[in-house]
Amino acid sequence: MNADLIIHNIKTLYTSAGPYQQGEDMDKIVELHDAFIAIVDGNIAAVESGEFAGFVGKGTTLMDAQGLIAMPGFIDSHTHLVYGGSREGEFRQKLEGIPYLDILKQGGGILKSVEQTRASSFDELYQQSLKSLNILMSYGVTSLEIKSGYGLNLETEIKQLKVIKQLKEDTKLDIKATYLGAHAIPNEYKNKANDYLETVKSDLLTIKQENLADFVDIFCEDSVFDLEQSKDFLSYAKDLGFNLKIHADEIVSLGGGGLAAELKATSADHLMAVSDSDIKELAKSKTVTNLLPATSFYLNKTYANARKMIKEGCIVALSSDYNPGSSPSENFQFVMQLGANKLKMTPGEVLTAVTINAAKAINLEQSVGSLEVGKQADIVLLDAPNLPYVLYHYGINHTSKVIKNGKVIFEK
Ligand code: NIG
Ligand code: FE
Repeated sequence: MNADLIIHNIKTLYTSAGPYQQGEDMDKIVELHDAFIAIVDGNIAAVESGEFAGFVGKGTTLMDAQGLIAMPGFIDSHTHLVYGGSREGEFRQKLEGIPYLDILKQGGGILKSVEQTRASSFDELYQQSLKSLNILMSYGVTSLEIKSGYGLNLETEIKQLKVIKQLKEDTKLDIKATYLGAHAIPNEYKNKANDYLETVKSDLLTIKQENLADFVDIFCEDSVFDLEQSKDFLSYAKDLGFNLKIHADEIVSLGGGGLAAELKATSADHLMAVSDSDIKELAKSKTVTNLLPATSFYLNKTYANARKMIKEGCIVALSSDYNPGSSPSENFQFVMQLGANKLKMTPGEVLTAVTINAAKAINLEQSVGSLEVGKQADIVLLDAPNLPYVLYHYGINHTSKVIKNGKVIFEK
């Protein structure tokens, strides 16, 4: 077979196997030494150790990896990447110890970003988001999810979702869009959460008609939307045919994790405060437990109990939560480093959590998330001697090359 491209001289290639890995199996990754990847039509035709001559023919391009290590392109399965303005103005309050939810109650926080997003033009939002997306990509991210949720009215939510669509068309990354109209209660609906949710429900019909979202999400949290409201809203979205995600048990344990399992949500995200019984429910389900340690880091909160989730058999993913309020950094490798250093995940578990399990968190596990024959050739080459080194030498960018569908999209 003649390959279009062969990436050879890979010191070590690391990958998990699809379609996902659960519990202690997350640590069982494949390591191939002196490896090559043969690519045909943007897809992987072979991943092996040793001799690649059998794949070379007329028109084959050879790429010498020069002894770098290779992994599947990383997948950031939870971001709020499209927003207007920024929130460094609240940094002082944060340092004075004013809690995140108190800043929101005072009309700041998410509501500040709503004000700025409403005031931004489509083009301003697009340019700001593209800049962030390019940084994220430089850290090895080749697929991601992006949420709306800084409009809190139909017009601005649609503006955000259309920016996501444009980013998808222009960058050729795999991008999934999530409608998060239920992110906060806008000032116009102060103390009228139920009325606001009715509006969001009717807006959902338009979002569906225009095919602007793959998932529907809600912020189930103290002083935002309670468990009952979340259940009612997500059930409605599910009946319309949407896949579900939920911001669950981030700050206060309300039972969002258990609700996610009950509704067969694709993922339950955050879970820093999830109860032991809800961990058990999640472990029994196929709902991905999506952990966001950079948020714990930035908010100075406790970290999710990944060790317990893994022990119980959960499908654990890690993602950035990149947003202007609780996780203002696109450094995806730092998220992985926190996964190791703070969540005490092994290097193999971290890799699984940002590749195949993250793919499952956005329903892309059949096409991306592992280096296996037939999957898209989404590959990151890293200038590091081994996988543990990437997690140990923290805060920097180890990426050398990022390849999407067999094409180089970033090069140091
Ligand atoms: O996932 N928790 C809700 N939403 C975001 C934060 C959004 C913001 O502060 O702007 C999160 O942490
Ligand atoms: Fe979030």
